[in-house]
Amino acid sequence: MEFQNNISLKNQNTFGIDVSCRLFCIIQSQQDISDLIHSDEFKNNKNLILGGGSNVLFTKDFDGLVIKNKIIGKEIISENKDLKTVKVGAGENWHNFVLWSIKNRLSGIENMALIPGNVGAAPMQNIGAYGSEVKNVIENVWAINIEDGKKLIFSNTDCNFQYRDSIFKNELKEKVIITHVSFNLSKTPNNNTTYGDVKEEIQNLGLEISTESICKAVINIRERKLPNPNEIGNSGSFFKNPIISTIQFKEIQKQFIEIVGYKNSETETKVAAGWLIDKCGWKGYRKGDAGVHKNQALVLVNYGNANGEEITSLAKEIQQSVKDKFGIEIHPEVNIIG
Ligand code: FAD
Ligand code: EPU
Repeated sequence: MEFQNNISLKNQNTFGIDVSCRLFCIIQSQQDISDLIHSDEFKNNKNLILGGGSNVLFTKDFDGLVIKNKIIGKEIISENKDLKTVKVGAGENWHNFVLWSIKNRLSGIENMALIPGNVGAAPMQNIGAYGSEVKNVIENVWAINIEDGKKLIFSNTDCNFQYRDSIFKNELKEKVIITHVSFNLSKTPNNNTTYGDVKEEIQNLGLEISTESICKAVINIRERKLPNPNEIGNSGSFFKNPIISTIQFKEIQKQFIEIVGYKNSETETKVAAGWLIDKCGWKGYRKGDAGVHKNQALVLVNYGNANGEEITSLAKEIQQSVKDKFGIEIHPEVNIIG
């Protein structure tokens, strides 16, 4: 394992923010992690673990050590009549793992096709899309405590998964390196087509409902709605969908009858932040190279040379206008790195 100085991160974050880090290294094995945490470069600097860089916004050069996780490998570690449990290296690309599961006739993650990034970051914010969340299939998360190098195994319950949240974003933020994640995948198709237009897309494709057709439909819908980070810098939804009391939701609905919300619990409603931002008139807005995507107001974009400060200042204006119009606070989903 070697340390490199002054490395550009422009191609290491899907927002395409042109920043650099003072030190950079790649970890590919447990041994690399052990070497890393005993090194002076690690002990004497602040550090950041990076996967695919698809959920980070750098606001300035990173004055420390960026650790790129490239631990790979997939292994079936147990099996019963219904499930196979697959242990996957944190540095494996998420979408390739989805395609691998389909090829191996395993179901459970097909609704989350085409989410950018790596397997190791999936538990961080409990990734989710099109009616699935990764918490439904995670068995364990393997990690290393960066303070003492001890190996840790977190059960699904230990991870305290919530909507776009987990223990790794809270108590364990910057305290562990996730090395592997194991998934319980089903040998029989889940065929979950409850969300939005998945079923309609499968019909339009002239296909029967199956693990493969759900994956194909989700890919098509995502390609239509979301900007491709290879073309326009972005990190997916910039904000989380806010969860408010159903009483408050019904009050707002009296004035804005078409507001979009989904039941979150007996007393709470999850509101579509994209709709709120859209209604405030931001969709398609552009100031310099920072903007709001023309098809999805929840996605902030970098048209080329926006810096992190310009994106965060636009985000603040959006937050304020949503608060002023609806009385709802929206919070970033993206990890802002200052
Ligand atoms: P990074 O951005 O590299 O890291 C994210 C955070 O996790 C950082 O805080 C980092 O320090 C930490 N981290 C990463 N790896 C490790 C590790 N091994 N150990 C400890 N900490 C680690 N998300 C969804 O949930 N659903 C979607 O539908 C979705 N759609 C998206 C669409 C687009 C176009 C884009 C650009 C993003 C989208 N996202 C979505 C967000 C993003 O893809 C996910 O959050 C993804 O899991 C991030 O993975 P990553 O490897 O790129 O993480
Ligand atoms: N909407 C608008 N205007 C907009 C955007 C959305 O009116 O500009 C409305 C839509 O018409 C729809 C509703 O808002 O009625 C919800 O929109 P959509 O189905 O696109 O989903 P979302 O809530 O905006 C969430 C996730 C996405 C995930 C999709 C599909 C969050 C923060 N975002 O988006 O995840 O892919 O559902 O499941 O929960 C991400 O986390 O980065 C991400 C892209």
